[in-house]
Amino acid sequence: MAKVRKQFVCSSCGTTHPQWMGKCPDCGKWDALEEVIAGAGATQDKQRGTAQIASQSAPRARPIQMVGTGDDESAADSQRLPCGITEFDRVLGGSGEMVAGGAAEARGLVAGSAVLVGGDPGIGKSTLMLQAAGQWSAAGTRVLYVTTEESAQQLRMRAERLGVFRGPADELFVLADTNLARVVEQCRKVQPAVMVIDSIQMMYKGDLPAAPGSVTQLRTCCMELVYMAKATGCAVLFVGHVTKEGRLAGPRLLEHMVDTVLYFEGDRYHSHRVLRGIKNRFGSTLEVGLFEMTGSGLSEVRDGSGLLAAEYRPASGSVVCPVLQGSRCLLVEIQALTATGILGAAKRKTSGLDGNRLAMLIAVLEKRGELRLADQDIFASSVGGMKIVEPAADLPIALAIAGAHYNRSLSAGKGKGVAAIGEVGLGGEVRHVQQLEQRIHEAARMGFTHVLCPRTSIKPPAGCSLMHVDTLSQALEALS
Ligand code: TYD
Ligand code: MG
Repeated sequence: MAKVRKQFVCSSCGTTHPQWMGKCPDCGKWDALEEVIAGAGATQDKQRGTAQIASQSAPRARPIQMVGTGDDESAADSQRLPCGITEFDRVLGGSGEMVAGGAAEARGLVAGSAVLVGGDPGIGKSTLMLQAAGQWSAAGTRVLYVTTEESAQQLRMRAERLGVFRGPADELFVLADTNLARVVEQCRKVQPAVMVIDSIQMMYKGDLPAAPGSVTQLRTCCMELVYMAKATGCAVLFVGHVTKEGRLAGPRLLEHMVDTVLYFEGDRYHSHRVLRGIKNRFGSTLEVGLFEMTGSGLSEVRDGSGLLAAEYRPASGSVVCPVLQGSRCLLVEIQALTATGILGAAKRKTSGLDGNRLAMLIAVLEKRGELRLADQDIFASSVGGMKIVEPAADLPIALAIAGAHYNRSLSAGKGKGVAAIGEVGLGGEVRHVQQLEQRIHEAARMGFTHVLCPRTSIKPPAGCSLMHVDTLSQALEALS
């Protein structure tokens, strides 16, 4: 008989240790190590539910040359399942660009992949999954929706409200169960192309001596379902909750196992939501999907600039910046506020912006722009909660801080006024940023008559003129 080997897994970071310790040496969390029996997962279960599936359609080894040789079945993009919700498909991956034949390459869920969708409770994960499931089934793709938190009746009521339920002949199958073996059994019977597990934290495997939601259960259930996805070609979408610290419960454990990790973010008190890629084996993680929560479910926001900078009015401490998010450009309003603080203990707080970058910009403003900010509390944020990490937002952030400090705004007569773009160097110079032309065009499209930017030979579109600046001090002169 094989020797039973004990291991201890951290419920916070997912690392494995040979012995119990009070504090996880990797993430530093106290009392987080849980005992697991090594091998008590997939190996033991080979004789049970999942093994049957594997033996029925065990993956055959194929020569790698077959991929991309014109064999449609093996080309990665031909196996994508677009759901029709453009914002969701874009985040799932795929280039979406026109190829030689004139047809656009597919975007969407890759067959046989495992996707984890995380987010705060009540943010709209179930709504998004149900709407996507409805779209897939309407297009003839069979979907099995496993609900572990709601009853089938509750889900049906929600589906009716969202206009997803289309009667008994539908390709959308619903299962209200939390037992892994029964879910696998139903999946084998229904043979869906897409399966949704809402949520993975409630799933349990009967023969494991651990409570649902524990690290052991979470890891085993996820591992077996991922294995099943790979073996059968059925894509699995896991819904996971986020803990108070803003991490997926059982976080890195699941992130390692799945192909794609998406976060559904947003302020519960505002209607817009952002779907963001954290990891994606089949596409870019730079893409974001924008949605708005309405009375009849989530609606796509195709024109993100309209949502994020629609309420912008020229005012002190407020500057609009065109930022790149994957393949598209969005106008985001950046705001700053300065208030009298205590010299040596002034506060610097950011929301949606990088705190280190803010500290650097404050130093450049002091040294090169001759502002006295040492005794000022400074708050800076991106309106709408969009996270901005691009250096192209340096100039708008610096102008917002200086504008708030001097009580001046960036304006040029009537209209929406001036947008700003540029990276600021430590010497106070304003540097070129990538894809400047696309950004200028987006600002012009949204009605901005002037764009403050580094020196360039780009011709702006009609109705828009460029204000070239070489240094931060020149840019500060534009504040009036
Ligand atoms: P839900 O999808 O249940 O969130 P999650 O699965 O992430 O916990 O969404 C719940 C919230 O969404 C709830 O507060 C009500 C709101 N909502 C709407 O505003 N309109 C709708 O059509 C639906 C279905 C939900
Ligand atoms: Mg839910």
